[in-house]
Amino acid sequence: MSRVLHHHGGGRVVTLTANPSLDRTLVLPGALERGAVVRLGASSTEPGGKGVNVARAVAAAGGEVVTVLPASLDDPIVAALHRLGLPLATVDVAGAVRTNYSLTEPDGTTTKLNEPGTPLDAPTRAALTDALLRAATGAAWVVLAGSLPPGTPVDWYAELVRALRPTGARIAVDTSEAPLLALLAAGPASAPDLLKPNAEELAQVAGTDEAALTADPLALRAAVDGLHAGGVAEVLLTLGADGALLSTAAGERYTARPPRIAVRSTVGAGDCSLAGHLLADLAGAPPVERLRRAVASGAAAAGLPGSAVPTPAQVDSVAASVVAGPLSPAEPAPSAAPVAPAGRDVL
Ligand SMILES: Nc1ncnc2c1ncn2[C@@H]1O[C@H](COP(=O)(O)OP(=O)(O)OP(=O)(O)O)[C@@H](O)[C@H]1O
Ligand SMILES: [Mg+2]
Repeated sequence: MSRVLHHHGGGRVVTLTANPSLDRTLVLPGALERGAVVRLGASSTEPGGKGVNVARAVAAAGGEVVTVLPASLDDPIVAALHRLGLPLATVDVAGAVRTNYSLTEPDGTTTKLNEPGTPLDAPTRAALTDALLRAATGAAWVVLAGSLPPGTPVDWYAELVRALRPTGARIAVDTSEAPLLALLAAGPASAPDLLKPNAEELAQVAGTDEAALTADPLALRAAVDGLHAGGVAEVLLTLGADGALLSTAAGERYTARPPRIAVRSTVGAGDCSLAGHLLADLAGAPPVERLRRAVASGAAAAGLPGSAVPTPAQVDSVAASVVAGPLSPAEPAPSAAPVAPAGRDVL
């Protein structure tokens, strides 16, 4: 199984990150105190933005990937991505790529301070669309992920899905709030082949609150059905520590739960889930195995610090204890309980 899942004859993944960021993790020695002077522990900076994270996770598994992003060639993010060996297609922009700060406290509490990002004017959006279409031609998957910079039309992802269709590449979208709602409002011609909401994003779409949605399996299913009714072929719904649900165009539904892991940072876990799903798809895996890889990749990422992405060996070691199976139509609640002993560090 592992051997098959690590074979990537299946083609190129292209990611667009319209609003990239340098993700700077500031390690606090104690609880964050407003107004105080804080002596930080070792800090680190990694190139980020959801599309960049997905690309890093695909590349870490040996997959072929191209990252499309707006950034000037002398921007620090470009140097950082080159150091990671990620093939890039950049579109020059005037401003510097934003920095997002994660303030981490010893008890695991993380405070995120995200800059808004550099606005993209219409010519820059057109250049990004061209770069994306060029990279997408002959690719297996295109991933549109993350927020849109200030001033971007909220329906830009919908427009991009329509522009990308003639390339024949399948299209995955992971976004939230207005760009997500606009994508789904734009109709079936703009619907992606794969949508990766988390519970909060599905609640935004369903117009309900997250707690109500996750407490009611029937409401959860109805919300997923709503996505299919809007033309979304496949839905990978991630549910944090509860794992994920995969709902296919053929009406099959699977759930998978990760083992209990020692969580270090869930930043980027969802991006690694999406990457795991795509890599398994490229290796020809059936739906339940794609879901297992998605959940294992997300959980492995959550066990690593910052927005670090797991190696295939780390994903394998978690995948062995992921409990995955069909969600029976009669069964109201997501199934299986975790099998690993509480607190076991599986990495
Ligand atoms: N506490 C946890 N323990 C084990 N696995 C986790 C935990 N949190 C997340 N995961 C794994 O990561 C996957 C994605 O998590 P989640 O649903 O939180 O994504 P997300 O909200 O899209 O994250 P982000 O957008 O920050 O990358 C889950 O399906 C699960 O496999
Ligand atoms: Mg997410």
